[in-house]
Amino acid sequence: MEEVLAITDKVVDKYGGDPESLVEVLREVNDKSGYLSREHLARIAERLSQPLSKVYGVASFYSLINLEPLGQHVIRFCQDAPCHIVGGREVWEALEKELGIPFGETTLDGQWSLLTTSCIGACAVGPVMMVDDDIHGNLTPEKVRDIIADYREQDERATATAVQGGQV
Ligand code: FES
Repeated sequence: MEEVLAITDKVVDKYGGDPESLVEVLREVNDKSGYLSREHLARIAERLSQPLSKVYGVASFYSLINLEPLGQHVIRFCQDAPCHIVGGREVWEALEKELGIPFGETTLDGQWSLLTTSCIGACAVGPVMMVDDDIHGNLTPEKVRDIIADYREQDERATATAVQGGQV
């Protein structure tokens, strides 16, 4: 709880407690904490003198703001029409099948969260998804499986290196 308050207060102070900076504050606290808990939202509401319902409403409007803890990797798949009509439906199904979860969920091992997003400005190479901060375009079900396999391989290598180095 103390950490929540410290992170939130630091960001609110940076914007001088200005209620007009609500979106910036939400985004920045989200980036620093990984997600916004009820405690984060309550503190932001209190510090910016805004109703909690308004703060929650704004936070839930933005797809890049998370209201629950997310997995180690976060997939944000573009669900807008230009991506949808060039094969988005097949890619959507491949993602759910490959990760074994529906959209909006996180895998039980905490490795993957599968979310949707609106257009990320890469329509020319749709269907498109972001994995963490990286954009992947021209997706097909096969390509999605390869991309996820690459991330899994990288994670395994990182874990093996950490074990060898005595960090785990
Ligand atoms: S509609 Fe998907 S990136 Fe623009």
